[in-house]
Amino acid sequence: MSQLTDLPAWSKLKQHYQEIKDTHMRDLFAQDPTRFESYSLKLNDILFDYSKNRITQETLGLLLQLAEEADVSGWRDKMFAGEIINHTEHRAVQHAALRHPGNEPQYVDGKRVDEEIHSELQRVKKLAKRVRTRQWRGHSNQPITDVVNIGIGGSHLGPLMATEALRPYAIHDLHIHYVSNIDENHINNTLETLNPDTTLFIISSKSFTTQDTLVNAQTAKAWLMNKLDNEAQLPKHLVAVTSNTAAAVKFGVAEENIFKMWDWVGGRYSMWSAIGLSIVISIGPDNFDDLLAGAYEVDEHFKKAPLNENIPVIMALLGIWYNNFFNSEAIAILPYDQNMHRFPAYLQQADMESNGKSCDRNGAKVDYTTGPILFGEIGIASQHAFYQLLHQGTKLVPADMLAPISNVQCIARHHRALMSNIFAQAEAMMTGKTEQEVERELTAQGLSPQQIEKLLPYKVFPGNRPTNTFLFYTLNPKTLGSLIALYEHKIFVQGIIWNLNSFDQWGVELGKVLASNILEEINKGEMVSNHDCSTNGLINYYLNLKPKRS
Ligand code: F6P
Repeated sequence: MSQLTDLPAWSKLKQHYQEIKDTHMRDLFAQDPTRFESYSLKLNDILFDYSKNRITQETLGLLLQLAEEADVSGWRDKMFAGEIINHTEHRAVQHAALRHPGNEPQYVDGKRVDEEIHSELQRVKKLAKRVRTRQWRGHSNQPITDVVNIGIGGSHLGPLMATEALRPYAIHDLHIHYVSNIDENHINNTLETLNPDTTLFIISSKSFTTQDTLVNAQTAKAWLMNKLDNEAQLPKHLVAVTSNTAAAVKFGVAEENIFKMWDWVGGRYSMWSAIGLSIVISIGPDNFDDLLAGAYEVDEHFKKAPLNENIPVIMALLGIWYNNFFNSEAIAILPYDQNMHRFPAYLQQADMESNGKSCDRNGAKVDYTTGPILFGEIGIASQHAFYQLLHQGTKLVPADMLAPISNVQCIARHHRALMSNIFAQAEAMMTGKTEQEVERELTAQGLSPQQIEKLLPYKVFPGNRPTNTFLFYTLNPKTLGSLIALYEHKIFVQGIIWNLNSFDQWGVELGKVLASNILEEINKGEMVSNHDCSTNGLINYYLNLKPKRS
């Protein structure tokens, strides 16, 4: 048995699952009219309602016992203290220090880091201000109208997600673009309408070795050089964010245009660092401070709130309950806010790259399931796409639904209809529709008993499908910062309970190495025979048919 499945709380939960697995949430609500009050928490303007879950006070007690036995609090304190908890890369995990307001020293492996964090943040804000106020000029002395962030994974998804989510706070006469895909269509489509005289590129890459980013950066540089008189003008159009300054300089970025990040900030946790430069340019330094403040308040909540009132802890425990005891494979993230359309994609990397692992902290293969398949989309669009499976499919897919109580403009006709949908969907997932209810409904519609008999099974909804609902006043920078940090800490807690290192990502390496070998073969252009017959066949088919010019 593994460390986790050996814990007393684990066996108790297994036993408890047998007792509760057929209990319907309808009955839990019928038995306890105060269930909403008992199973919801508030943090500033965020309401977290987790009453529509297949839990009782006993379930919660056992899950909290599991968190204690797994020493979640001890690991949490180690993370905030800057200890080396990412043991496979020998790194600390200190993204939370990036949003600490600065009244207490922050450490990484015993060394103070708060001063350099704040000085780098000041540099970022200074650049952003110069671009926003048109003081930063291109080579022909024109102000910047377009900023293109070139990056991928953590150097792309967070900035893109936040820029989209905070559109109402964005400066109007500046356009922020994001290019990640090595497929030339991405950069070509982006550059199509841009003018090199008024475009600023940010090459965002922690390692500055990522192929996708470097290939796009080369294309961007060549595009600029078609218009610029000489390389000396490049600094007016090219900046970089990286922890590999030497590589950025070698690429041609002026040293004074390089913004630093650190190895103790994981890529998928890096939007709080200079990787967030495009966000700062878009929403401005004060709004970025609010984003950091929102995350900081969640850090404090995570550090100080008792486990039974600790939102990220409860989120994590509910996930474990379904993942490990109900054998649910997936989780859906469903924002009812159009501006949050990249939120599920952002969380996909945060969660799946962190906890999609099968080797525990001791190097042993786990004998329990770990990170779920996270997917999601805008709730309203999804209702007309995959909610069918959520309501009536054979799989149990717990879902998080998120919505603002008010929009920036808040046209009542739109917003009330939007809200009616989130409430209705969560209610429908919980209550479902019984045979008796369907029969009554069809009878009232005038169907004959024979017609009812035929149609009835299709119209029944089992219900008992868990959802968490997050309501917040409006999606402002502070609230967005808080929401992201809640999920970051949820992922952390789950990783601790599953006894994983949530902060490495060795699983992305193999494909990278193979791609680089295959690229060499493709460049040679000779038929290959050293792979399996499928890979050989595909490469050779491609080599035979590829356009001669490429
Ligand atoms: O391939 C995965 C990954 O290493 C992510 O963890 C990271 O966010 C992304 O690539 C980009 O890496 P970099 O910022 O070093 O270019």
